[in-house]
Amino acid sequence: MSTAIDVRRTRVDLPTTGTPPTHPRLLAWLDEVVDLCQPDAVHYCDGSEDEWAALVAELETKGTIIRLNADLKPNSILARTDPDDVARVEDQTFICSKDERNAGPTNNWMDPDQMRRIMTPLFDGAMAGRTMYVIPFCMGHLDAPDPKFGVEVTDSAYVALSMKILTRMGAEVMARMEEHDADFVPALHSVGMPLTDSMTDVPWPCNETKYIVHFTDDRVIWSYGSGYGGNSLLGKKCYALRIASVMARDEGWLAEHMLILKLISPEGREYHIAAAFPSACGKTNLAMLEPTIPGWRVETLGDDIAWLRFGADGRLYATNPETGFFGVAPGTSYATNPNAMRTIEGGNSIFTNVALTPDGDVWWEGMTAEKPEQVVDWKGRQWRGVGGPVGGRPDEKAAHPNSRFCTPIEQCPILSDDYHRPEGVPLDAIIFGGRRENTIPLVTQSRDWQHGVFMGATCSSETTAAASGAVGVLRRDPMAMLPFIGYHVADYVQHWINMGRRSSASALPKIFYVNWFRRDADGRFMWPGFGENSRVLKWVAERVDGKVDAVETPIGYVPAPGGLDVDGLDISDEDLAGVVGYTETEWRDEVPRIGRWFDTFGWRLPREMVDELRALETAFGRA
Ligand code: GDP
Ligand code: PGA
Ligand code: MN
Ligand code: MN
Repeated sequence: MSTAIDVRRTRVDLPTTGTPPTHPRLLAWLDEVVDLCQPDAVHYCDGSEDEWAALVAELETKGTIIRLNADLKPNSILARTDPDDVARVEDQTFICSKDERNAGPTNNWMDPDQMRRIMTPLFDGAMAGRTMYVIPFCMGHLDAPDPKFGVEVTDSAYVALSMKILTRMGAEVMARMEEHDADFVPALHSVGMPLTDSMTDVPWPCNETKYIVHFTDDRVIWSYGSGYGGNSLLGKKCYALRIASVMARDEGWLAEHMLILKLISPEGREYHIAAAFPSACGKTNLAMLEPTIPGWRVETLGDDIAWLRFGADGRLYATNPETGFFGVAPGTSYATNPNAMRTIEGGNSIFTNVALTPDGDVWWEGMTAEKPEQVVDWKGRQWRGVGGPVGGRPDEKAAHPNSRFCTPIEQCPILSDDYHRPEGVPLDAIIFGGRRENTIPLVTQSRDWQHGVFMGATCSSETTAAASGAVGVLRRDPMAMLPFIGYHVADYVQHWINMGRRSSASALPKIFYVNWFRRDADGRFMWPGFGENSRVLKWVAERVDGKVDAVETPIGYVPAPGGLDVDGLDISDEDLAGVVGYTETEWRDEVPRIGRWFDTFGWRLPREMVDELRALETAFGRA
């Protein structure tokens, strides 16, 4: 469906605010986009405070956002989305490589020409009645040896504001791009709701038809129909994971769905750890953890994405390409994640689909021990702690389960100074994890890099509200990258194996597998989690130093009795045994599931993974 436009206007015909770029390839692309999308005006984003204020005012007028009480949440806003636009849409996310085999069995694929034939009519006139925002951005440091530039063009001011928090963007980035005539990833986004004369706008424009598309050979992103962060903030998942994973394959590095933290022992020894968990499985919490064990400290470097490159010393260095957190709100509290709470207290934040309190503050399930008497829920309805929303079901939550806070990382009180180092930090350990009610023990160490890659490749997790679709369904999620690998999963696993061959075993990070989410027969979490996860981090650190014993099992090294520090921990012996131990019968069921998962890789399944699987099958007996 395309919109009828009487006179097609070119970029120079349009009312313009901000400073147009001089970058020739960018100008050529912008001309094409204007010609296709036919916006009413163009704004070139500079990332300034004035721009922020103007965009907030505009969104307020349109009813998209509400300003929060400035005494409680300075310079912060609440956005409510369309109820059908609340999460990433994995079904509608495509890898459009020329060769289908480069997308592989875990991605939706379509021929790039065919996809362009579908999407060009969608984008035709899609920005009519709206302003087109041009957002130059850089994922990672501007001073990185090879800065990764992008330009997002969007008809959503909410996107422009969010990109200011999450990325380096604006005038300084544009100046660098122009100075170096730099390459950039063109990233086109439209909410997909053109405004013709007869139409009035809605607070959250979007379209039932959604496409999140990556042309991985050309390194181009097209996103249509959704304003939700994971679908619309194209620097994040689309660029820094999907496109970057393809760049990383070609250039010899890794783009991963990982937090980065620095753990500091009472003696002052520092450990750098990166951890990959699927969406809504604990990255943001672990990244900002407040250890419960005396003398240990954590500093934050990143909470969602890590780019890993070898340094000249043969060690693997991690950088965070983002500048903010886009965190799951529900469950975040002073008890579970005090540093996230302190970060948002600093203001300058965008909250999406959380509840609004009578005094103009935000609230979500799990923030306070007691439910508030009355709030406005994420759909704008009066909602009572007892009774739920007016006109709704009593069990309806006040905040959407995938509601988010978007907040600047520099406000995090425990941000590491090393966050500012373009080269990043050398990793001592990599942790994979998932949400499993059984089978996967609290912590396991791999025997070596290859076994660690196997742990990552066979990682599994119960689905969450971070993506649309059913919640709680077990699925494999290799390296927590299932929705983000921009190419064939078998090649991706092979790339991980190859990376390990580029350095010595002693220089490589040690690899671990964790699970905070084991449940007992009543469905209760047996491990208290959150700050208590510091006990697991301590064990990881002591294993890195070779200071603590472990028991070798077919699935890897698990803590020896007494090896895990549980001093002062409130947990029954039964629960502790239940989370730390592994159960042979559960693994007899698990091994064939891993075999079936690997069957989907086809002939490209790396030999090394077959060897690892055979070792497990031998230990547990073939099904
Ligand atoms: P991310 O999306 O991977 O960054 O995950 P978050 O850190 O935002 O956590 C997602 C959800 O899991 C939130 O509701 C958290 O409160 C919850 N969560 C995080 N860590 C733990 C943990 O150690 N134990 C339990 N039971 N829940 C956790
Ligand atoms: P998350 O990030 O991993 O913090 O949930 C957003 C996402 O993955 O959709
Ligand atoms: Mn994520
Ligand atoms: Mn997170």
